Amino acid sequence: MRLPKPKKIIAPRYVAGLSLFKRKMIKIKLSANESALGPSPKAIKEYNSVSKSVKRYPDTNGTSLKKVIANKFKIDKNRIILGSGSDQIFELVCNAFIKKNDEVIVPKYSFIIYRIYSKINGAKIIFAKEKNFTILVKDILSKVTRKTKVVFLANPNNPTGTYISKKELLYLRKNLRSDILLVVDDAYFEYLKEKDYSSGLKLFSRHKNVLVTRTFSKIYGLAGLRIGWGYSSKEIINTLKLIKPPFNVSRPALFAASASIKDVGWLKKEVNHIRKWNKILYKKFKEMKIATNETKTNFLLLNFDRVNISSRKVFQKLGDAGILVRAMNVYGIKNSLRITIGKSKENKKLISTLGKILNV
Ligand SMILES: Cc1ncc(COP(=O)(O)O)c(C=O)c1O
Repeated sequence: MRLPKPKKIIAPRYVAGLSLFKRKMIKIKLSANESALGPSPKAIKEYNSVSKSVKRYPDTNGTSLKKVIANKFKIDKNRIILGSGSDQIFELVCNAFIKKNDEVIVPKYSFIIYRIYSKINGAKIIFAKEKNFTILVKDILSKVTRKTKVVFLANPNNPTGTYISKKELLYLRKNLRSDILLVVDDAYFEYLKEKDYSSGLKLFSRHKNVLVTRTFSKIYGLAGLRIGWGYSSKEIINTLKLIKPPFNVSRPALFAASASIKDVGWLKKEVNHIRKWNKILYKKFKEMKIATNETKTNFLLLNFDRVNISSRKVFQKLGDAGILVRAMNVYGIKNSLRITIGKSKENKKLISTLGKILNV
């Protein structure tokens, strides 16, 4: 029987960490940079209450949540677009702006989703160099050609955990051709308090050719509900709205997101927990001769060159002990793993298990 023939699709595949082990075996999941403390109890309460009315479609425009976001960040509600995760915003950008043979620049070690949707739309991916796992703005600029359409970057960056200063980001926009869309992914901005850092939203809310993305999946602990948003000029947002699927964000997601954004105290708790554990883990890893960057995000990139066991073996042994972390081969980072900071108990278990694996 001849089957319908799909289009030719050439794109890297996203491999979720959990698919590599039997779900039941994994007791501690430190692989997807999800929040350590989970969602605000207020968000859970709202979620439970909305569950009584799931027979209703959600508000396709998400008007009420947009108002909450606009109030909170002092921005224009008409320039917000909601997505089923910020992933969907990247997808909309690629679907709306990229055509075959356009070029998309991404930092060498950057979130794989940018590449997936760009490739699906026929783009050529151009990698810009990094230095010490940190984005090099000058290298991004040196890679620009007349075919360049979009530059994607996350600040702080995943999977490296490093960030670039506000000065560098402004320099990048200033020196990029105006018809190149700069997408700044703010997925982890809440964790950073450093003086030379500014979120994309703060820096670019007045720029017409920058799109900033935010997510409820990380610090807000709502990854399972799939909700994120983008902010840009009316022109860009209206273009994305043309192809946004109707009802793309569910009612529970809209309501839980509204409640969680109002719970400032909960957010502070999570930030304090992460900053405390970031320091402890950095020190412990150093003692174990595992190299890592000093970061402020809720994850750390670990390199195993100075210990006598490979990252692949450590990954497997941690998995056997019920701890799932992220392998870095898909990112092309050699002999490395990325770990998400979890609850105190989980972090302690990670340290003791690693100690046993490395014999230290
Ligand atoms: C840099 C970055 N951006 C975006 C996302 C995805 O967020 P969402 O769950 O909103 O699609 C992730 C998730 O890992 C991420 O690391």
